[in-house]
This record gives sequence, structure tokens and C-alpha cells, in this order.
Amino acid sequence: MAQALLEALNLQVHYGGIAAVKGISFAVEENEIVCLIGANGAGKTSTLKALARMIPSRGEIHYGNQRIETLQSHELIGRGLALVPEGRGVFARLTVAENLMMGAYHRDDAHGIATDLERVYDLLPRLLERRTQVAGTLSGGEQQMLAIGRALMGRPRLLLLDEPSMGLAPLMVQKVFEVVRKVAAEGVTILLVEQNARLALEVCSRGYVMESGSITLADSSAALLADPRVRTAYLGE
Ligand SMILES: Nc1ncnc2c1ncn2[C@@H]1O[C@H](COP(=O)(O)OP(=O)(O)O)[C@@H](O)[C@H]1O
Ligand SMILES: [Mg+2]
Repeated sequence: MAQALLEALNLQVHYGGIAAVKGISFAVEENEIVCLIGANGAGKTSTLKALARMIPSRGEIHYGNQRIETLQSHELIGRGLALVPEGRGVFARLTVAENLMMGAYHRDDAHGIATDLERVYDLLPRLLERRTQVAGTLSGGEQQMLAIGRALMGRPRLLLLDEPSMGLAPLMVQKVFEVVRKVAAEGVTILLVEQNARLALEVCSRGYVMESGSITLADSSAALLADPRVRTAYLGE
């Protein structure tokens, strides 16, 4: 097997004395789209934040040919690892265009930035229509699109997506997932965290199930969708 783009070994996150992530191991190969599903409080966001070095953790994190657990979050941006946080985190008082440019603030290749901006507007035409509107007045779905677009402006190799469906109407969820599919088709590797297990497994090739800080199941999406334990606990059957 080729070396994984991302590999976590015995990853642990503690908040004070409480263990939120209890020594999990998983891997994402280049060009894969993999999901981490689990109920509210399972430790999914803590896992992504640890990978993006936004919170301290124990255990090993391999990314590319490097160990990154000793790095800080800002050191990862130039290395192509981008997190689209839960709740989106767009700059409410900046315009759509300004938010997108924030995603490229660490770059100085004006030509490449202009090309990527065009690419983002092609992928997300709604953002082009709304480019002069302040982000705080966008709908939830549009803000989610903007958060993804902003991450793409950093030319990521690996995109960590935290619950992109959260709080969105079903039609908007479908649109956001259509974008996730297109981004993956362009060759960006994706680790997708979702409470909406059915949706996540339909878009991913493989998945991990997380429960109370541990990974309890790991398999192909097809196998997980057919697994009675997954069907009962996560698919409402
Ligand atoms: N900043 C924090 N301080 C203390 N406990 C936290 C903090 N963030 C998360 N937790 C706890 O860690 C556990 C996992 O949370 P989280 O990673 O957000 O789960 P998920 O994203 O799967 O819903 C939960 O029990 C949550 O209450
Ligand atoms: Mg979460």
C-alpha cells in the first residue's frame, strides 16, 4: 500500500481530566474521500482540531512525509492542510470576495491566486453573484459554500470538513455535498466529519465510526451502509 497522505496513530485529546479522543488510529490515502461519522459528543471535532493543530493532543500525526504533531496550526496552512470548521467561521463583516482572499493571505503568487479565485467562482457561482455582499447576511448554505471556497483559496491538498450539513435545509445539504464531490473530483483529498451518516457514506469510499472517543468500526462505505449496527444506530432503521 502506498504511504498514506494522513495517518494518525494512537491520537488522544484531553480536556482537563476528561478524555474526548481515546487513542484512535486511522489513515487517509491521497485522493481518497473518507468519513468519520458518529453521534454528537463522540469526539469528531476534537479529532479534526487536533489534526489541524488547533488543540493539543498526544500520539503521532503523519502528513505527507512529515510528523506534524509538533507543529502549530499556522505552520500547516502553507503545507496544504485546511480545516473548514464546524459552524463555518466566516468573517461576518467582510464581503464574500474579501473572505475568499483571506484564504490566500499566506500566498504571494498573484497570478495563481487570480486563477484559483476564478476556479472557486466556477465551482460556486452563487459566490460570484454575491461577491460584494457581506458574509454575515448570507444564508447558512451560502456561508458553508463560502467557508469551503475560502479553504480552496489556500490550494489545499487535504481538506478537513467538519459537519458541512449542520443546520442546513435538505435541498441546501444536497448542494453542499455536490460541491464536496466536485472538489474531490479535482483531486483534493478529503476527510469528512458528519453526524449525517447516510449522506457521508454516500459520498465517501470508506468510513470510520466513532463512539465516545474511540473508533468502533472501519470499513468501506458499502459495508458500513449494510452493517446492522450502523443501520440501527446511525441510519434510523
Ligand atoms: N473545549 C472543551 N472543553 C471541555 N470539553 C470539551 C471541549 N470541547 C469538547 N469537549 C467535550 O469533548 C467531547 C467530544 O466533543 P467533540 O469533539 O466536539 O464531539 P463531536 O464533534 O463528535 O460532537 C464532548 O464530551 C465534549 O463535551
Ligand atoms: Mg462536532
